[in-house]
Amino acid sequence: MEQATERKKVVFSAIQPSGTVTLGNYLGALKNWSAMQDEYNCIFALADLHTITVRQEPAQFRKNIYEAYATLLACGIDVEKSLFFVQSHVNTHAQLAWVLNCYTQFGELSRMTQFKDKSAKHADNVNAGLFTYPTLMAADILLYQADLVPVGADQKQHLEITRNIAERFNGLYGNVFRVPEPYIAKSGARVMSLQDPTKKMSKSDENVNGFITLNDAPEVIMKKFKRAVTDSDACVKYGEGKDGINNLMSIYSTITGKTFEQIELEFEGKGYGDFKTAVGEAVVEELRPIKERFDQYIKDKAYMQECWTKSAETAQRFSQRTLDKAMKKIGYVLK
Ligand code: TYM
Repeated sequence: MEQATERKKVVFSAIQPSGTVTLGNYLGALKNWSAMQDEYNCIFALADLHTITVRQEPAQFRKNIYEAYATLLACGIDVEKSLFFVQSHVNTHAQLAWVLNCYTQFGELSRMTQFKDKSAKHADNVNAGLFTYPTLMAADILLYQADLVPVGADQKQHLEITRNIAERFNGLYGNVFRVPEPYIAKSGARVMSLQDPTKKMSKSDENVNGFITLNDAPEVIMKKFKRAVTDSDACVKYGEGKDGINNLMSIYSTITGKTFEQIELEFEGKGYGDFKTAVGEAVVEELRPIKERFDQYIKDKAYMQECWTKSAETAQRFSQRTLDKAMKKIGYVLK
């Protein structure tokens, strides 16, 4: 890995194991992650430390961790090419997060829209972890000297604060952290709810018809697309005031690779019913092999444990170097 770092750019990204993975996670992030593995030195993690910023039921949380790991393997994360570990297995993350907390201002954390949204949603549990969530995320990224961070558009602000923290630290102590760039794909970076296309698709949506999960059965997927909210135009065309159709067109385009013009031509003179069926079918076919592989991986917990242990060992060694460097610069005496 050390040698590879010199040749290839480093990619880091993570996902929370907080329940089922959605089509938004897949199109906004996971599809890109697996595509980047040949060109880059990729490091992926299940961000399970982030997940407890919202209260978790222990048995369900444990199950979610295995399911998320199996899902990502099924999406094509290849542990022969990339590191893929569980964040809580590598103790440098929590350590560097503490250090970075002391280099991050209350004011800048207060401006994070995710903090504002989540604290409104979980008003009975606005914990300190929810507030300092971005510094842990910064630690995740900076520990590996990542060049690129492939994420959906909703994570852009967290990448900006990561860059600010890195630059501030480097300004004080010299070149400790590489300043990462967000990698936000042109297509699929913001998949919207099928029921309210002004809101991002999210698994925490109370209306299950608003989101597609990677585990939904084909008939469920078709039903959700048929019920998708559109408009009264009945014309498959990308445009203002057509959030529902725009969203369906983006999903269809991200999966098929077709441009909006090609999609408009394909559905000229056809109604929304035909279009929704075509989008549903494209999604079903895209997810079918993932679901089949998931069913295999989830049965083999020992295999998953073996994979994450091996990756965590390498990640620990690599990240320890960055942590040590940062600690030394601050003036700590290392043991
Ligand atoms: P999380 O678990 O909410 O989402 C994982 C990835 O999925 C993307 N995503 C979407 N993309 C398009 N449309 C949507 N509707 C949609 N919903 C989610 C997210 O942008 C993300 O890329 N804080 C992160 C996890 C994390 C992380 C990191 C990411 C922890 N440490 C370091 C990058 C680098 C999160 O909660 O993602």
